[in-house]
Amino acid sequence: MPETVRVALGARSYDIHIGAALLGEAGHHITPLLSRPRVAIVSDAHVAALHLAALTDSLEAAGITWSNLSLPQGEATKSWPYLTQTVEWLLEEQVERGDIVIALGGGVIGDLVGFASAILRRGVRFVQVPTSLLAQVDSSVGGKTGINAAQGKNLIGAFHQPSLVLADTRALGTLTPRDFRAGYGEVVKYGLLGDAEFFDWLETNGPALAAGDMALRIEAVRRSCRMKADIVARDETEQGERALLNLGHTFCHALEAATGYSDRLLHGEGVAIGCALAFETSARLGLCSQEAPSRVRAHLKNMKMKADLSDIEGKLPDSDGLIALMMQDKKVTSGKLNFIMARDIGDAFVTSDVPREVVESVLTDALSQRA
Ligand code: GLY
Repeated sequence: MPETVRVALGARSYDIHIGAALLGEAGHHITPLLSRPRVAIVSDAHVAALHLAALTDSLEAAGITWSNLSLPQGEATKSWPYLTQTVEWLLEEQVERGDIVIALGGGVIGDLVGFASAILRRGVRFVQVPTSLLAQVDSSVGGKTGINAAQGKNLIGAFHQPSLVLADTRALGTLTPRDFRAGYGEVVKYGLLGDAEFFDWLETNGPALAAGDMALRIEAVRRSCRMKADIVARDETEQGERALLNLGHTFCHALEAATGYSDRLLHGEGVAIGCALAFETSARLGLCSQEAPSRVRAHLKNMKMKADLSDIEGKLPDSDGLIALMMQDKKVTSGKLNFIMARDIGDAFVTSDVPREVVESVLTDALSQRA
């Protein structure tokens, strides 16, 4: 039996099932949602080659017919042209208001297909079948959907909750070690922001989990989803507490922009480095002890993850340049950056009260450690 986490949002509540055979059980879980036995599946070509057959076999076994659109793999797909293509394909497929669209893939596909579902016929239901660790623990849960704009990432979108999430942890076996570790950056984030005991657990179990232990993988995804589901249930549209989920992200977004959203830095790697920088900033502000950032970095290094600016290859802007990029973050309100700072591991909070000089000194020191 899979583990189940409920996202409690009244009439829009839904289950996240987490287990090692969910692609093969998809027909069973999706059948109760259907008003007629057919679905439209949107994927990317890479994920479709690996996982579409397992999904469609199980749909067919449950008597569900399906059609599929496979888009190119990669962040560039999260854009107007592919949104147009997806929506027009769904219309050609005569997807009706009562039908279900399935998003099979990582964060790019989940965000794009969720947004297409939000605007198609003023909203159709969709099911997330996340295949990357990042999507299983973060982007498939909570209803943030959208595409990127020339002006920045995720600037166009809508809150549109899925009707079901099926996180098959066996699918994680097809990720490259680098992609797996990048997703793990988001897992660590949960321990750091709100659950010190989970961070302890990750320090103990992280290496075995990365090596492939399935029970540990399920448990890490379950605990991450549990925390995200609880936060989303209390603050669906990010009026307050949900912002905690952006721990490390202000630094991360600046670093992603500085590296041109390229392979030099994956999103989850930027989150991990951003978390380390957020703890370093918190320590300099006297909010937490100096041991806290050291412990964060030690765990990231133990997991063979990027932990410092020196782990990013190639040129980076100076601290002024990085701060200018941070100011373009969509979390800027009235010209002030909102930061997530921490009083300790597992105890993060939102503040706009972080002096620029402190951020500058953290970045200057971090940059000076680069060769
Ligand atoms: N990834 C942050 C959120 O869903 O709020």
